Amino acid sequence: MGLKGKTIVLGVTGSIAAYKAADVASKLAQAGATVPVMMTRAALEFITPLTFRSLTHQQVYVDWYDAGSDLAIQHVALANQADAVLVAPATADFLAKLVYGFADDPLSGTILATQAPVLVAPAMDGHMYDHPATQQNLATLRSRGVTIIGPEQGHLASGLTGMGRLSSTETILAYVKMALGRSGDLAGLRVVVSAGPTEEPMDPVRHISNRSTGRMGFAVAEAARDRGATVTLVTGPTVLPDPVGVKVARIRTALQMLDATQSAVRDADIVVMTAAVADYRPAIQAEQKMKKGPGDTTVMELVKNPDIIATIQGDFVKIGFAAESEDLIRNARTKLAEKRLDLVAANDITAPGSGFAVDTNKVLLVHPSGEVEDLPLMTKAEVADVILDRAVAVRQQRARQPVVAG
Ligand code: CTP
Repeated sequence: MGLKGKTIVLGVTGSIAAYKAADVASKLAQAGATVPVMMTRAALEFITPLTFRSLTHQQVYVDWYDAGSDLAIQHVALANQADAVLVAPATADFLAKLVYGFADDPLSGTILATQAPVLVAPAMDGHMYDHPATQQNLATLRSRGVTIIGPEQGHLASGLTGMGRLSSTETILAYVKMALGRSGDLAGLRVVVSAGPTEEPMDPVRHISNRSTGRMGFAVAEAARDRGATVTLVTGPTVLPDPVGVKVARIRTALQMLDATQSAVRDADIVVMTAAVADYRPAIQAEQKMKKGPGDTTVMELVKNPDIIATIQGDFVKIGFAAESEDLIRNARTKLAEKRLDLVAANDITAPGSGFAVDTNKVLLVHPSGEVEDLPLMTKAEVADVILDRAVAVRQQRARQPVVAG
């Protein structure tokens, strides 16, 4: 899964944002992709082939007619090898070329010849971007299945602020992974994920919450997206940005999470609940800020929140988490049975590298059969993929079981 072992042809055209393409090339290579780079002549005015060659350890192509390049003989070889072709940055001029199908440089020729997904990340002056010609060109490319990434709003090299900034490297990579995963093993499936904490307000300035950051749930949502799923993420308050290509419902309280989850799971195939839902909420939410009383102690009445995962019904695969500080397996088994789950991912929040605000997790997978899988310490992205593997296995097992009438 992901970028490892994939060939991503990176096209660089003549925008001042060309220097940012070095970071894109570097991050793609670090993620395990092979990254041949194709530069237009205009790009050479902004950045050198040596930069890309040093970062990717691959040949950099500029000219059809360079006798030292293998393109002189096999001019569509890279078009066939590519798992995706990404142009970042793409100028207004280059977009126009793509619309008309010119092939007077190796990059535009490769894009004409390839069957792989094509992605372009425009970067240009705001007025050039807004021009009807550019907008029409982008619409034409989109209608042909080209993925347009950004651009973003912000400071432009012209000194103005507007639309036209190249999207961030993280956003560009997320789009590439999503394009690669289009035909993944979750293609056509709907996955719903809950994430983060909930906040249960006491008054306008105070609430009850917990230390969940949402990282595990966001990792599951991104992994499912990168395997081709249509993903809805219902999340409590978190600083994490919306993942690219995922429908995000931001809620605050457990009751709001229940509402959002119930409507999201209607046509779901797989539901993964990673949220740390507050078990109780204050019985009364004061309209004004509560004042301290004369005594040294106080008591607040709490009422139980609904158990969301136990409440939602449907023939989807249902996976829960169990964050525990003791009796990990016993507690996980109880939750598996009481919430009628297909799998529980149990984590000991006191274990090193596990728990809140870190990118790793140490998880035990507890199955209804009684089997317990003790996974090693992994990144949350890796844990997410294993959980989705198991969800796929549950679906396959169900498909094999005969339907019992009545
Ligand atoms: N969960 C839920 N709604 C709740 C509480 C929990 O959907 N009101 C889900 C969580 O998202 C998780 C699983 O149930 O997938 C277990 O959550 P956890 O907080 O570990 O357990 P609780 O059921 O709250 O039990 P306890 O707090 O007593 O351990």
